Amino acid sequence: MVNITIDGIKLEVEENLTILEAARLADIEIPTLCDHKTLTPYGGCRLCVVEVDGSRTLQPSCTLPVAKDMVVRTDSEKVRAARKFILTMIFSERNHFCPYCNVTGGDCELQNSAYAEGMTHWPIQPNWQPYPVDASHPFIIIEHNRCILCRRCVRACNELVGNFTLEFSDRGANSMLIADLDVPLGESSCIGCGTCVQVCPTGTLIDLWSAYQGREIEVDSTNTICQGCSIGCSINVLTRDNRLVRIEGDWDGEINGGVICDVGRFLPMVEDRERVMTPQVRLNGSLKSAILEEALKTASDKMKQSGKNTAAVASTRLSLESLYSFKAICEQLGITKITSTEEGSSTSAAYSLLEESGKTFESKFADVKDADCFLVFGEDITKDHQVVSFFVKRALPAGVKLIQISDTDTGLDNFADFSLNVKTHKIANFLSGLVAMVSSKSTADLMALSKEYGLDEETLQKVSQTLSNAAKPVVIAGTRFDFDDQLKSLKSGVRLAEAINGKFITTKGNINSMGAAQLGMNNPVDVSDAEVVFLAVGDEKLSQQFVKKFDNVPYLIVMGSYVSPLTAAADVVIPVTNWLEQSGHFLNFDGNILEARAALTASEGIFSNFEMFEKIAGEMDLKITSEWENTVREQPS
Ligand code: SF4
Ligand code: SF4
Ligand code: SF4
Ligand code: FES
Repeated sequence: MVNITIDGIKLEVEENLTILEAARLADIEIPTLCDHKTLTPYGGCRLCVVEVDGSRTLQPSCTLPVAKDMVVRTDSEKVRAARKFILTMIFSERNHFCPYCNVTGGDCELQNSAYAEGMTHWPIQPNWQPYPVDASHPFIIIEHNRCILCRRCVRACNELVGNFTLEFSDRGANSMLIADLDVPLGESSCIGCGTCVQVCPTGTLIDLWSAYQGREIEVDSTNTICQGCSIGCSINVLTRDNRLVRIEGDWDGEINGGVICDVGRFLPMVEDRERVMTPQVRLNGSLKSAILEEALKTASDKMKQSGKNTAAVASTRLSLESLYSFKAICEQLGITKITSTEEGSSTSAAYSLLEESGKTFESKFADVKDADCFLVFGEDITKDHQVVSFFVKRALPAGVKLIQISDTDTGLDNFADFSLNVKTHKIANFLSGLVAMVSSKSTADLMALSKEYGLDEETLQKVSQTLSNAAKPVVIAGTRFDFDDQLKSLKSGVRLAEAINGKFITTKGNINSMGAAQLGMNNPVDVSDAEVVFLAVGDEKLSQQFVKKFDNVPYLIVMGSYVSPLTAAADVVIPVTNWLEQSGHFLNFDGNILEARAALTASEGIFSNFEMFEKIAGEMDLKITSEWENTVREQPS
């Protein structure tokens, strides 16, 4: 700890803090532009300069560490004059005619800083050249004319996403933000996560879908979780007049620390599926709009009548409350085929392994932050669980090793130290071979593995050494296995992690895949003998292959948010809210129960899945309790 004085206030602070951090602890405000709490300090804009006794020049507070007996002034005349000068220079470098800008009037950190310094006009003649606008990307526009060269976007893409798409060409005022080797952003390696947009302090990086839709002060913000995959990233959903304006990563989010992927940020903005707006019942061969009571009664009567000859399938995007109620209703009707859209995929395999071994074998996602070597198999994590891949990729510049096993191209190809081409159905055996190699270090094992999988001995030798030398290796198992291969691959993966004293993590499927497995709803879907099928699909977009399973169902009840081939084929359609319109709990891939909060209000007459199950239970005089939490917590996870 060191003693310092800032603006006359004596403070005792940790030695490794910067002046800016120390000032913030004491609620002393220093204006900043290039600084961002999630990024490595850069010291580029100089707006944060302060006077430090003994220093000839003003010092940037965001990069200068505190030192013993340091005396700092953040608000002297000299500092204020410097700030005004710096802001003046920044304003004159490019076109900052604010009234035309997307973020004017509260959302621009540059404009806000100028107002805070009492600036009302440009004291010097602007001296800028017009720059082109890059609108080549489906989600993001780069309005170069507003760029203040703070490099927050570059650092975010490198340090948080690990994608290394953005850079600056040239130097000084001629610097231009470029993607890759100066190609349009839409043709670059950008994966469209939008992290750069979220950190940009000006109106340079613009989210195409929310531009001009509402400023921070005009929108409501709901802190909730993304339900795009099993991670459950913490997000803020910004809405205005019950309309979705924008989705942002929550910088304080425990799992994701602010980063989210395109699935979480942009896909909900471009959702174009048609909503189911009214209940429908099939009469004389065609679906007719009905009042809700009629649809619920028709569905309930039919299910009661067919009893145990009903099959029930619920989406793993439904909340724990909903899945629990769904199961309770079905059990009371004597239905035995109750499962989820998870239908025996990898999460179930992980859960079976858990039951079989009787102990947890997975570590926490937080362990990836300390890893010095990753081995990834069974999935392109840059597609299916993108935020996991961000944490892997961002670690690599520090010398962390990456080994991936895949028989197709993946987004990790450009990042991996070793990409091993092994067919998915052979991964289990290959991993066992690796276990033998790292354990025995024998040339015979090496040669056998090389011969069987057509991989050269030198590479395998290096892979084995990399795994053996790692102090904190993490094995990440994905979800893309055929049903039969899942359990075997997971077992081999766990054995490998044990052999190298590493951690083991599986990515799982949907946001509540684990929850459904814990509630015992993870068997394969079997509707072959069913007289009636009750499918609570929620807002899930099912694959064509999955939908085909319901082709010859004699009587189909579909509870869903969107029009689909399933609702078209149904005998009863019951509309429900989508993920943004309902609250509930979810068990994520890390075994944490997460709470989602509704950000939008559904149209009149559209109820949440849970409310609809309550209504159905009421219709049939069945009981549903709120015991889901005990049931889920009783299970190991
Ligand atoms: S959207 Fe993501 S990947 Fe693309 S440039 Fe921005 S931070 Fe990098
Ligand atoms: S695009 Fe935005 S974040 Fe990137 S350097 Fe320019 S102003 Fe800064
Ligand atoms: S990684 Fe998953 S939970 Fe996170 S933002 Fe993307 S889809 Fe949503
Ligand atoms: S915030 Fe310190 S130099 Fe930019």
